[in-house]
Amino acid sequence: MSLLPQDQDQRFLARALELARAAVGRASPNPTVGCVLARGNTVLGEGAHLYDARDHAEIVALKQAASLGHSVRGATAYVTLEPCAHHGRTGPCADALIAEKISRCVIATADPNPMVRGQGLAKLRVAGVEIEVSDPASALAIEARRLNDAFAYSIQHHRPFVTLKAAVSIDGMIAPAHRSRPGPVWITGPAARKDVQNLRHVSDAILTGIGTVLADNPALTDRTGLPRRRPLLRVILDSNLRTPLDAQVADSISNDLLFFTTEHASSQAESLQRLQGAQIQRLPESAPGQIDLASALSALHQRDIRSVLVEGGTFINASFLQSDLVDRVVLYFTEFELGLDGVPFARGLHSPYELQERLTSLQRKEIPHSDGSRLEDIRISGYLHDPWADFSS
Ligand SMILES: NC(=O)c1ccc[n+]([C@@H]2O[C@H](COP(=O)([O-])OP(=O)(O)OC[C@H]3O[C@@H](n4cnc5c(N)ncnc54)[C@H](OP(=O)(O)O)[C@@H]3O)[C@@H](O)[C@H]2O)c1
Repeated sequence: MSLLPQDQDQRFLARALELARAAVGRASPNPTVGCVLARGNTVLGEGAHLYDARDHAEIVALKQAASLGHSVRGATAYVTLEPCAHHGRTGPCADALIAEKISRCVIATADPNPMVRGQGLAKLRVAGVEIEVSDPASALAIEARRLNDAFAYSIQHHRPFVTLKAAVSIDGMIAPAHRSRPGPVWITGPAARKDVQNLRHVSDAILTGIGTVLADNPALTDRTGLPRRRPLLRVILDSNLRTPLDAQVADSISNDLLFFTTEHASSQAESLQRLQGAQIQRLPESAPGQIDLASALSALHQRDIRSVLVEGGTFINASFLQSDLVDRVVLYFTEFELGLDGVPFARGLHSPYELQERLTSLQRKEIPHSDGSRLEDIRISGYLHDPWADFSS
């Protein structure tokens, strides 16, 4: 039985999205894109963009079709992001599709770059290619946009997209007042902690402050086991380079540890950290003991970092929120209290509940602990700055 044309469009666009999803972690600093070339019910070629392989998704699919001996003349290209129309590391994909005489192009979403948005589609249209753009409110279009939140934000604002994540007790605390021994105190269950690993996997960098390093001794690594083209860059804000040389985070074998510090840090501390393989960058302060966060994000942008996951303590959370440098928030609420003498979510600032009120595109998910207990965590996520705000209607 043959599918209706609109069902076919959904099916092949969903497949293109699946290909894009599998390339997460391997496309940044470029967008994550998948493409399927099909005629009728038959797939002729497909692929996703991997930054190191250079070719954009459309070219990967065209090459696969050619290698299988398929002509794509008169075929439909299903692409999760508008084909590009400009010369970058590769030639324009719109030109390549036109040269191969495809007759139709179905896209999930337009290019987020306001300077080039619509130009790929315009080029295709002028060449006589029929264009179909997904309904922006459809689940496919929303997911295609969300896959590229970081690319969309950074191309428009020239700084990385910042996600602030915190595990919070029901009374708004992120840690107990006292702990029996140094090291992490797990507030959430194993399933929520696994979910956090996925947040790390989709990020180019993770950032925290020296307070968390001293209190929790975290490793700050991506432990999903999924492939990524460059290690997760672990960034520590440490004005005086107080991070102990035997801290877990200081174990840097792959050039993945960066300290932002200030002129106050001693050159001896700098030399010792460098000897251990860390990178050190001195930045200005916005106030005593506070590394200027805009400078930190700008320095990360210059390193081709498109997304930063902030897993900070109470002072880092407060500073990022106060500077209006948080774009997306992910909170994992536990079912128990830590008590009013606990460490607050953001010292002197918001309760997590006030913050939640300000989020757009709010999503709520229940995450059972998956350890046999009857407890569950609630994941709340949403945007303070939605990079696709202009695209959703
Ligand atoms: N539940 C969770 O999700 C979670 C996550 C992380 C941490 N925590 C908890 O949070 C607590 C630690 O909180 P914390 O506030 O001490 O640690 P923090 O927020 O990670 O680090 C704060 C320190 O970072 C340095 N810093 C440099 N520039 C800064 C800036 N612009 N803004 C803010 N800080 C800057 C300052 O120390 P210098 O002046 O020395 O540079 C400051 O004292 C621990 O109890 C930990 O368990 C909970």
